Amino acid sequence: VIVARTRQELARARRDLGERTLGLVPTMGALHEGHLSLVDIARAEATAVAVSIFVNPLQFGPSEDFARYPRDEQRDLALLEARGTDLAFIPTVDEMYPRQPVITVTPGKMGDRLCGAFRPGHFEGVLTVVAKLFGLFRPDVAVFGQKDLQQLVLIRRMVQDLELGPTVRGAPIVREPDGLAMSSRNAYLSPEERRQAVGLHGALQRGHEVYAGGEKSAATVVRAMRDALAAFALLQPQYVEMVNPDTLERVERAEGGNVLALAVFCGRTRLIDNSVLP
Ligand code: PAF
Repeated sequence: VIVARTRQELARARRDLGERTLGLVPTMGALHEGHLSLVDIARAEATAVAVSIFVNPLQFGPSEDFARYPRDEQRDLALLEARGTDLAFIPTVDEMYPRQPVITVTPGKMGDRLCGAFRPGHFEGVLTVVAKLFGLFRPDVAVFGQKDLQQLVLIRRMVQDLELGPTVRGAPIVREPDGLAMSSRNAYLSPEERRQAVGLHGALQRGHEVYAGGEKSAATVVRAMRDALAAFALLQPQYVEMVNPDTLERVERAEGGNVLALAVFCGRTRLIDNSVLP
């Protein structure tokens, strides 16, 4: 894997790819099997694969975990090498933001729902850095995980509304054997928190069960999910919702294609998960 640390090195490496098509996987590092599944998808869709590793300060709130977000470049690079990545871009904050950006990408009201309601400015930070990465890489395809559902929906919409170019692919959530969705933030969990974190997936499964039983009211499905979470002393829900997959608006009627989405504090760690109704 070729490592570029500056925009200039990246521009050179990008030029050297010549006519090859490029699949980009933007990440914040601390890579796990979920990220590596995105690399596999990028490789299936393009003839060269690039991964960016950048913990983006713009998308963290003042009381969030920017400083302690896990960073392990050597391990990340070994994993990317093993998975056949062609190019890794690992800029510093000063390299990525030589000046404080004045022009940013704002998500509008779709950014105020779900996670956006609790993380003001988060999606503006995400969209701004992703737009910059698209400008730097000019990828043909960009791959994002479905675990960050709102992020994926907003990036798709940004690419359409601003004609940014790449085809955006969403990748299925990769789970631990007990059902916990893989996340770099799982590393924060104590052993007891890790045991109880399975409750997020349990609540989604409960939602599926109630829906499969014929329930038509979204509120009733959501109530059953909240009851399932309440069995875990360390889990504190921030939101539990059934939403339309395109608009992220809350729905009243439980229907196939709608998404069950939740954000839950497990101790001090905020975890999210979601699942589409069949
Ligand atoms: O999903 C992430 O890791 C980040 O939000 C992303 C897309 C790399 C932007 O910083």
